[in-house]
Amino acid sequence: MRTAFRHTDNPRAMSSDLWESHFLTACRGQRPSRVPVWLMRQAGRYMREYREVRAGRSFLELCQDVHLASEVTVHAQGRIDADAAIIFADILLILQGLGMPLEYVKGDGPVLARPLRRDRDVAALGDPQAAADACGYVAEAVALTRRDLPSDVPLIGFCGAPFTLASYAIEGGGSRQFARTRQLMYEDTATWHRLSETLVAASIPYARAQIDAGAQAFQIFDSWAGALPRADYRELVWPHLHALAQEIPEGIPLIIFGTNTGHLLGDFRDAGADVVGIDAVTDMASAWKGLGGPQRVSVQGNLDPGLLLAPRQRLLAAADRVLAQAGDGSGYIFNLGHGVFKETDVERVIALIDHVHQQQLPLPESSA
Ligand code: CP3
Repeated sequence: MRTAFRHTDNPRAMSSDLWESHFLTACRGQRPSRVPVWLMRQAGRYMREYREVRAGRSFLELCQDVHLASEVTVHAQGRIDADAAIIFADILLILQGLGMPLEYVKGDGPVLARPLRRDRDVAALGDPQAAADACGYVAEAVALTRRDLPSDVPLIGFCGAPFTLASYAIEGGGSRQFARTRQLMYEDTATWHRLSETLVAASIPYARAQIDAGAQAFQIFDSWAGALPRADYRELVWPHLHALAQEIPEGIPLIIFGTNTGHLLGDFRDAGADVVGIDAVTDMASAWKGLGGPQRVSVQGNLDPGLLLAPRQRLLAAADRVLAQAGDGSGYIFNLGHGVFKETDVERVIALIDHVHQQQLPLPESSA
């Protein structure tokens, strides 16, 4: 079993600036001197400077230009004063590395032109190590970003979880019901497992390369896992998530997140998460209690990103309700329940983060 981050003693010899940072302190379950905050999709289209860098090039070109990907990452962290940065990349890049043609079509999101439908499609995928190597530009961008970030701001690497990646590969893009994914999973279970194993085999060296290049934390996105009933998740998906999570090196906190996953959070913890990401529709306080509280696992969440569209007063009141569920602040990281909407005003984001930073720790316990 992978040793929990909270039970390790800086085995990767991080600088004390990083090891003692607010973010990594909370990842260990301890109480930092202020509430750490970062936001999923903090680098993205809501930010004018991102749109300027993105103009005239495709999203994939931006991901593959290591200097620009790094610049976008570093700039976003500084602009909003986040307590961590997340490398600018995408969970679907590894599918391209495995040989699947990938495109991001304006208005339609990601499109995989040759979706996987049967065993021979899975058999035709490329070698997993070669797939990770083909995505080596992400690790290169991590190295540049680590060099340019403030010395006390941890950098988060990430990848997609096997279910969420498989759903894009099978559906050929985003989906509402995941019908083809579930059909394959139930009717051709051997192919399902073979696909999941291939995705995990590629994701392990991909994750390690990001960590070896300088990422201090790692997040696995199982964004759409919530679509499955718990029994199916446990039987058909969890063993693969667990296999991946166990290969994240020790001394690196692992965050696992998905939307609408209130019923799966214990499975995320049991897979090996040091920090469980809470979506916006899950009651964070009771979920955390169910997970064993801050003595057992840290949590990250869970302000509804739509509230960043509300007037400042409503936004900050909603943030206060989230903070009231964070106990005394031990083991707690403020985040959204999903990514920032592109319609968000960056000034609202800055006001939110400033407000969270001004909270006095220990946070007042909720009377609710
Ligand atoms: O700041 C960050 O959070 C880091 C970068 C990041 C991106 N994608 C950049 C991105 C991260 C962590 C992701 C993860 C990701 N990608 C997930 C998991 C998180 C989640 O949202 O649930 C998923 C499901 C994807 C797949 C993906 N990539 C979709 C569905 C889309 C299209 C929808 C959209 O928002 O445009 C993308 C494109 C994408 N990934 C953009 C960005 C900034 C927009 C690209 C553009 O500039 O047009």
